[in-house]
Amino acid sequence: MDINEARNYIGKEATIKGWVYNSRSSGKILFILLRDGTGFMQCVMAKNEVEDETFARAKALTQETSVIARGTIREDKRSPNGCELTLKEIEIIQLTRDYPITPKDHGVGFLMENRHLWLRSKRQWAILRIRHQIERAFRDFFDNRGFTLVDAPILTPNACEGSTTLFQTDYFGEPAFLSQSGQLYMEAAAMALGKVYCFGPTFRAEKSKTRRHLTEFWMLEPEIAYITFEENMKLQEDMITYVIRDVLKNRKDELDIIERDTSLLEKVEPPFPKIYYKEALEILKKHGKAVEWGDDFGSEEETILADTFNKPVFVHHFPIGAKAFYMKPDPEEPNTVLAADLLAPEGYGEIIGGSQRIDDYDLLLEKIRENNLSEEDYRWYLDLRKYGSVPHGGFGIGIERTVAWIAKLPHVRETISFPRLLGKIYP
Ligand code: 4AD
Ligand code: MG
Repeated sequence: MDINEARNYIGKEATIKGWVYNSRSSGKILFILLRDGTGFMQCVMAKNEVEDETFARAKALTQETSVIARGTIREDKRSPNGCELTLKEIEIIQLTRDYPITPKDHGVGFLMENRHLWLRSKRQWAILRIRHQIERAFRDFFDNRGFTLVDAPILTPNACEGSTTLFQTDYFGEPAFLSQSGQLYMEAAAMALGKVYCFGPTFRAEKSKTRRHLTEFWMLEPEIAYITFEENMKLQEDMITYVIRDVLKNRKDELDIIERDTSLLEKVEPPFPKIYYKEALEILKKHGKAVEWGDDFGSEEETILADTFNKPVFVHHFPIGAKAFYMKPDPEEPNTVLAADLLAPEGYGEIIGGSQRIDDYDLLLEKIRENNLSEEDYRWYLDLRKYGSVPHGGFGIGIERTVAWIAKLPHVRETISFPRLLGKIYP
């Protein structure tokens, strides 16, 4: 029996295969909290109901000892599962000694060194389940709307998001780079399949040590042929709203475990506020920030902007040159591009970057040259503007930042099983 199915076994015999999370005894009664991966279950053993030897064995169980427990499921309205296990027999698979992570408080450095074990703690368990639900909701959202999932390559010959954060590797004597984004490939795929998305790991050699930067992170990137700039933002609003509602509905217990106050999340619904970059500059200046036309915003600036609204907010129409080379200038305001970032409230900042892409061959070539990118490397990308070019756009959403926001975590390192951070690759 899986613990998360226990409610269906009330009054019946059951076997739980798992691990001891903690245990305590009050003389004649033992309380053992077991976990099996699907949940946590209070197990109770009374001395006068079992053999002395069974009771002694159960009493000596240590944290993280692997066990197979047998007994009867009893209704218990006070327990989180609505039931508990009356223990009759417990078989030890391996008796654990000196488990390094004890119920006392440990420093984050120590926990990160023991990330392979830390994953077993209730909080980390809950976070990983929330992450899974978020990923599932994202995929459902796009699959339900007729998008095709297209997997983008990881080894790439060129940069997508600027050459300063590339991880270089050797590809049979030639330089190759770990992908920073699947976008350029999704543009090719969108011309073949119309509405596509990729979902995979992306890499940035970020020198910044912040609570929102990883060097390896997962990004979901939709790309849509013929979409307009406004439709693109609408798609993002619908997606965020769908995912939040899905997680609030399906991961309520896990959100409770991590003590997430969900009142602001419950209020997330379209339309989201939308402000021009130039309006964002004004807000930031009022907060005493020395920002000038052309600057890209950092974490602090994003936090100020997002906190001004208490809702996800789009900042759009960035100055030409502040962001990536492929963004399309707005014909109505030619010193700006049709790009929008979505900033999450509660201090989380940018979770989405999106834009209309340049669809004109000559302009794209000019931008490639201006940015000192190799024309040869981008020949295939330019081809897309030579053969049936159409207006198109898309966006990329970072999974870890989204999880950090929805679960309200202080740092992205807890949002992924084995985080890769500046100077950190163990375990
Ligand atoms: O704004 P970015 O750089 O946009 C792109 O890569 C586009 N090519 C996406 C597209 O249009 N298809 O990154 C998109 C998102 C960010 O908003 C953020 O959520 C996440 O990816 N991200 C990171 N997350 C964690 N650590 C990092 N170092 C990140 N860099 C970007
Ligand atoms: Mg960005």
